[in-house]
Amino acid sequence: LAAVVGIFLLAYLLGSIPPGYLAGRWLKGIDIREEGSGSTGATNVLRTVGKGPALVVFLLDILKGTGAVMLGAYLYDQLATPLPPLDAPWVGCISGVIALLGHSKPVWLSFRGGKSVATALGVVFGMNWLVALGTFGIFGITLALFRIVSLGSLAGAIGVNALMWATGQPLAYKFFALMSALSIFWRHQANIQRLVAGTEPKIGQPIPQKA
Ligand code: G3P
Repeated sequence: LAAVVGIFLLAYLLGSIPPGYLAGRWLKGIDIREEGSGSTGATNVLRTVGKGPALVVFLLDILKGTGAVMLGAYLYDQLATPLPPLDAPWVGCISGVIALLGHSKPVWLSFRGGKSVATALGVVFGMNWLVALGTFGIFGITLALFRIVSLGSLAGAIGVNALMWATGQPLAYKFFALMSALSIFWRHQANIQRLVAGTEPKIGQPIPQKA
């Protein structure tokens, strides 16, 4: 049991590494949580720091998710005393959910982090790269059409569920897709309100100030 707890703790720590926050601190001397949307994600880095750093943050946030799910499943497979009914896909799934939690609630940043989109995509990459590519495609097409990142994120969050079912993935992966979509919608409440009001900014644009 201690080993399984250790695996989940590792997933949290991996998820809680904050490249977006560090980009703001190191490159601009700002606390990104006080700027733009307040998120530590790549979208807000693009908005407040710059294109190159945003791309690096996006890739690192993806890597955290992929690392958490692959490391979790791998380490669990190595255990001399596994804990049935847990199996590697379920441990990967739970590690993935915990990594999202680490990303959005990092202990280092008084639990204020990002919206978990890139990290969730990374987890899906660790589960099935074709499903991940499809999800990224849905995100990318929506973003290209509307130029609004949050809309792409929400479309991707729905799309990944459809793709998991359509391609017959393990139940644990379908469960991860559902949990990540719920948490992504939850963290996008302010974005959804602005989308409905027609005031959600296009990519790279500042967040409109409330009157
Ligand atoms: O991935 C986060 C994106 O969907 C929205 O970010 O900073 O515009 O709230 P932001």
